[in-house]
Amino acid sequence: MSYYQIKSLEQYFKHYNKSIREPRKFWDKIADENFTWYQKWDKVVEFDMQEAEVKWFLNAKVNITKNCIDRHLAKRGEKTAIIFEPNNPDEEAQHITYNELYERVTKMANVLRDQGVKKGDRVCIYLPMIPELAITVLACARIGAVHSVIFAGFSASAVTSRVLDLQCKLVVTSDGGFRGNKTIDLKGIIDEALEKCPCVEKTLVVKRTNSKVNMKEDRDYWLQPLLDSAPSNNVAEIMDAEDPLFILYTSGSTGKPKGMMHTTAGYMVYSAYTFKNIFNYEENDVYWCTADIGWITGHSYIVYGPLLNGATTVIFEGVPSYPDFGRFWEIIDKHKVTQFYTAPTAIRSLAKENWEWVDKYNLSSLKIIGSVGEPINEEAWHWYNDHVGKKKSPIVDTWWQTETGGIMISPIPFVTPTKPTYATLPLPGVQPVLMDERRNEIEDNQVVGSLCIKFPWPGMARTIWGDHQRFKETYFTAFPGKYFTGDGALRDEVGYYRITGRVDDVVIVSGHNLGTAPIEDAINEHPAVAESAIVGFPHDVKGNALYGFITLKESGEDRNRDNLRKEINEHISSHIGPIAKLDKIQFVSGLPKTRSGKIMRRILRKIAEGEFTNFGDTTTLLNPEIVDEIKNERI
Ligand code: WTA
Repeated sequence: MSYYQIKSLEQYFKHYNKSIREPRKFWDKIADENFTWYQKWDKVVEFDMQEAEVKWFLNAKVNITKNCIDRHLAKRGEKTAIIFEPNNPDEEAQHITYNELYERVTKMANVLRDQGVKKGDRVCIYLPMIPELAITVLACARIGAVHSVIFAGFSASAVTSRVLDLQCKLVVTSDGGFRGNKTIDLKGIIDEALEKCPCVEKTLVVKRTNSKVNMKEDRDYWLQPLLDSAPSNNVAEIMDAEDPLFILYTSGSTGKPKGMMHTTAGYMVYSAYTFKNIFNYEENDVYWCTADIGWITGHSYIVYGPLLNGATTVIFEGVPSYPDFGRFWEIIDKHKVTQFYTAPTAIRSLAKENWEWVDKYNLSSLKIIGSVGEPINEEAWHWYNDHVGKKKSPIVDTWWQTETGGIMISPIPFVTPTKPTYATLPLPGVQPVLMDERRNEIEDNQVVGSLCIKFPWPGMARTIWGDHQRFKETYFTAFPGKYFTGDGALRDEVGYYRITGRVDDVVIVSGHNLGTAPIEDAINEHPAVAESAIVGFPHDVKGNALYGFITLKESGEDRNRDNLRKEINEHISSHIGPIAKLDKIQFVSGLPKTRSGKIMRRILRKIAEGEFTNFGDTTTLLNPEIVDEIKNERI
């Protein structure tokens, strides 16, 4: 029996039980039957969850790009691997076959090698959503370089801190990017970022917008001429199962972003297995995920998961509202998309518009629709189900994280009965548990608790780049021996999970995972600001928006408040990126603090939400009088 695909609820339970009783046998079989290896493993898994040490497929040798590309060539060489849909609907879409993908990835891999990139080197990629982004990711993996994609909405200083943390030698960027009716000066941002990055020796620049850019001598090179003279084949590097594949930053509860490191074999097996099942992928499907490759969703479910399964994956450069609110639906109609995977924030923003935008297009090709990134509220779920899925395409509400590498809790379409707002059941291999405040496991159903995972799975991140201690403290210490997700969850009477949101200092705004600490750090750098506290509050479209409580220095007291608000938001834009701007800024004379000096965010969160009672235990508050002031002056 193959475990690779789940076809019925009965089979789901069978596979699930097998994966819990005999996880080694379960993953051994999946890895053995569905991938190409240079050498198989000596042992399936070795772990010590207390120490945050996990290894999968020990001593196996593999190259993920051989599995994404080479092995498909005999059967699928002329099949489309990537459909590129440009920002401007008048520009023609590109269809890149597996043969062409092989050629483009191997050429790019040769260029990188020629430029001195070696196995283990970190390469930073700062590109818009164009095919070169996926190709560069794969080219890095081809030669064993560790890719780190930085979302092209991040500011120069966010790029600087990541490039320095990784000590990158080479950066791949473009002259600019198109987004709706805007052109973004990516090269200008990179130039500013690299002023403080002596480690970077070279940048390769893709021509996309034809904007005028500065090319620094002996550092910046146009990519195309290098590709033109590169040979179109390349021997893939033989990678150990646990060699790093990529590093992707995620927010943390301290100012410094966390470089989550994923390794090769476990990630490969897990992203492929989850893609196959959650999207019920079949040979002639056209699959589209609207995320950006700069986030984990793009890594696992635009690039690796689909290509590992020999799928056709759509890369869309633009935004849902350009040139009008019908763009997503037009693309589905145009390319006959069968699986569509997007975020609740996009659904909510489109649901605000007239549904005739959807009805204008023929969506009958759709079989499965998905949601990821934050809890999907009931209203948005129904709108998606009625207008996009037409009540026939199941919604897969997929819960997972940058740290988990792949989807963890989700319905299997046509197998698991869906329930609005519920991510439903764990995938085989995933053992979720809910923990109470005393750190005990809650066994019953119809309960809420902190969501932990109590057994390793192949796709999990292995460490935080350069800081294993922080990895251990963040994820494996609160509940010793278990992985703590940072999310709260509810388990219903049949064992379905509903994720209720973050229980730590991370706020999900428009599906972007934002730590409040780095935003506070940026605000505190403003010369007029003494101290700040950021919390999330519910927002119709974005899910959550940010509310800032700010105290000023004496020197800032007589400044015009509206100007200050503007300046603070500009400051955030330039330090982190426009995604982190505050919706509301309230200047206060003090922040509620405990006797040990910790800001009581719980109270601020309530006030921001408009709830003025039930502050919980406030006996440890040093300055209770401040709470009334803040309440009375709430915006
Ligand atoms: C949230 C994105 C509810 C959650 C793949 C998680 C969700 C964080 C869902 C990770 C979902 C993601 N329902 N909440 N279906 N999917 N989340 O690292 O709080 O960008 O911890 O990974 O998003 O965000 P990240």
